Amino acid sequence: MADLFDKIYRDKGPLGKWAEQAEGYFVFPKLEGPISNRMQFQGKDVITWSINDYLGLANHPEVRKTDAAAAADYGSAYPMGARMMSGHTPLHEKLQQELAAFVNKEAAYLLNFGYQGMVSTIDALVSKKDVIVYDVDSHACIIDGVRLHLGQRFTYQHNDIASLEKNLQRAEKIVEQTGGGILVISEGVFGMRGEQGKLKEIVALKKKYNFRFLVDDAHGFGTLGATGAGAGEEQGVQDQIDVYFATFAKALASTGAFIAADQEIIDYLKYNLRSQMFAKSLQMQLVVGALKRLDMLRTMPELKEKLWENVNALQNGLKDRGFDIGTTQSCVTPVYLKGSIPEAMALVKDLRENHGIFCSIVVYPVIPKGLILLRMIPTATHTLQDVEETLEAFSAIRENLESGAYKRFAAGVMAAMEK
Ligand SMILES: Cc1ncc(COP(=O)(O)O)c(C=O)c1O
Repeated sequence: MADLFDKIYRDKGPLGKWAEQAEGYFVFPKLEGPISNRMQFQGKDVITWSINDYLGLANHPEVRKTDAAAAADYGSAYPMGARMMSGHTPLHEKLQQELAAFVNKEAAYLLNFGYQGMVSTIDALVSKKDVIVYDVDSHACIIDGVRLHLGQRFTYQHNDIASLEKNLQRAEKIVEQTGGGILVISEGVFGMRGEQGKLKEIVALKKKYNFRFLVDDAHGFGTLGATGAGAGEEQGVQDQIDVYFATFAKALASTGAFIAADQEIIDYLKYNLRSQMFAKSLQMQLVVGALKRLDMLRTMPELKEKLWENVNALQNGLKDRGFDIGTTQSCVTPVYLKGSIPEAMALVKDLRENHGIFCSIVVYPVIPKGLILLRMIPTATHTLQDVEETLEAFSAIRENLESGAYKRFAAGVMAAMEK
C-alpha cells in the first residue's frame, strides 16, 4: 500500500516542478506599494501589467475613503453568520438591487467569492437528469462546478458554434430519455486570450434548441458595453442570458461576486447555493465598498474611456510592431512568442530587470508547448508613456529571443535542473 503523500513527494505537478527556479519570481512574486500602474518588485520600480484593476478603482482616493470609513463603522466581522441565518442586512439587499439594475436583470444575489459562487451556481442549476454543455477553455471555477454534476456533460471546442451545435444535439438525445434540461456555459470574455464568448451566436441557437444559458463575465463586467454592463450588453443579448455572473475581483477591484437573473431564478438560487447557505455572509466593508464602486461605474464614464484609450494604444502599438496578439476582443492583451519554458524565464527576467516591465507569463500546460504568452492587463491608471516604454521593451526582448540570446540562459537553467 502506498503512502497517500508518495505522489506529493515524487512530483509537485506540471507547474510545481519549476518551483525551485520560479517561486518568488515567476510565480508567487511579491508586488509592493500602492496598487497602480507602477509598483515595486524586489525593490525595483516596474510598470505593472498584471493587475485586473481595470478602472483604476483599487487605490482611487474616494474608494479608499469609503473602505476606511466602512471598516471604522462595521469592523471586519459584521454581519456574522450565513445570509440565511444571521448574515442578512438592508445594505446587502440594496447592493443586490443596484447590481441587478446595472446589468439589466430583475434580481441579483451576492456571492462571497466568484470562484466558489460559480461552482455552487452550476451545482444548484442542474440535477442528475440534466446535461451541461460548456466551452472547453472555461475557467477553473466552471470546470469545478461541472465536476460536481452527477449527470452527463460535454465540452464544445473553444468558441466553435458548429461544435456547440453538435454537442447540443447529443445533449438533446440524452434529455429526451432522462426528461432533464440543458445548461450551456460560456465566458463573456476568456481571460487568457481575451476573446469574447460568441454570446450572440450562442443565444441564436435558442431558436433551434431548448437550453438555458449561464455566462461568466468576470472580465467583461465594467469594461464592455455602452454602460459597462458587460459582454452581453456589448453584443446586444443581455436579455437572452438566463444567468449572468460577474466578480468584484476585477473592474470593481474588491472581493465578492454576484449572479443576476429573473426574480424567480434568483429566489430559487438563494435557497440552494450551498457555498452561500453554509458560509459566512459577505462582510459589510465589502458591501459598502461595492456600492461605492458601482456608483463610480455609473457616474464616471471617464474611467472606462481612459481604460480603452490605454487598451487601444497598447494593442495597436503591439500590432504595428508586428507582435501577435491573437484574437483579443477585450482589454486582456496577450502577446504570443515562440520559445521554451527556460527561454520564457530568461525573457521575463530581462523584461523585469532591464526594462522595468512586469507582466504575467503563461506557459505549457496552460497553453500549447513551445508557445510563450505574455499577458497584459491595461488599466485606467496607466499612461501613454507607460505604453510607449513597454512597446520599446517588447521590441528589445523580441530581438533577443529571435537572435537566440535567451537560449544560453535557458541552457544554464536546464543544466541546473539536471543536477
Ligand atoms: C473567468 C473568471 N471567473 C471566475 C473567477 C473567480 O472570481 P473570484 O476571484 O471572485 O473568486 C475569475 C477570477 O477572478 C475569473 O477570471
